Amino acid sequence: MTLADMAPDDMASTHAAAFNQSRPWTSEEFALLIEDQFCFAVGDPRCFAVIRVVAGEAELLTIATHPDHQRHGLAREVMARWQAAAFRRGAEVAFLEVARDNGPARALYQSCGFVESGMRRAYYARKTGPRVDAIVMTRSLQQA
Ligand SMILES: CC(C)(COP(=O)(O)OP(=O)(O)OC[C@H]1O[C@@H](n2cnc3c(N)ncnc32)[C@H](O)[C@@H]1OP(=O)(O)O)[C@@H](O)C(=O)NCCC(=O)NCCS
Repeated sequence: MTLADMAPDDMASTHAAAFNQSRPWTSEEFALLIEDQFCFAVGDPRCFAVIRVVAGEAELLTIATHPDHQRHGLAREVMARWQAAAFRRGAEVAFLEVARDNGPARALYQSCGFVESGMRRAYYARKTGPRVDAIVMTRSLQQA
């Protein structure tokens, strides 16, 4: 599936349902990503990921599973699919950022072979409360 196969409204709707601590991305923002030649998506409106591949590096821009469909292995499957697709597009390494307090996502990424490689202090704004550090995680895509 490419970004063009998924409606920006569906992506925004799932994103808003999944992300309750931070500002959800709008349909307009997803529509702009559709225009970006370096980006692609995998999944469907239940669970999807958006990835950018530039100069041999793949960045996971976002991943979200609608709360009605969480804990059914959808994100794990989407993670495997985007890594394989990024490798086919020439990416040798993948990286992502995740909020320090996002236990489910950190567990997901760790179980998918990502390891912590850095930290961005006070990176994420929250609807309420102090900003939260971002953990940078990376992995080689050779074995993905
Ligand atoms: C993180 C998220 C994408 C996981 O989606 P999911 O489809 O429910 O994940 P899966 O069912 O594929 O789970 C795969 C693994 O991730 C980990 N995991 C997922 N949800 C978890 C939770 N609530 N608590 C602890 N570990 C969790 C587990 O290791 C799980 O494996 P297991 O079920 O065998 O224990 C989903 O919780 C979500 O959309 N969260 C809000 C958005 C978000 O935080 N995105 C990431 C931003 S960096």
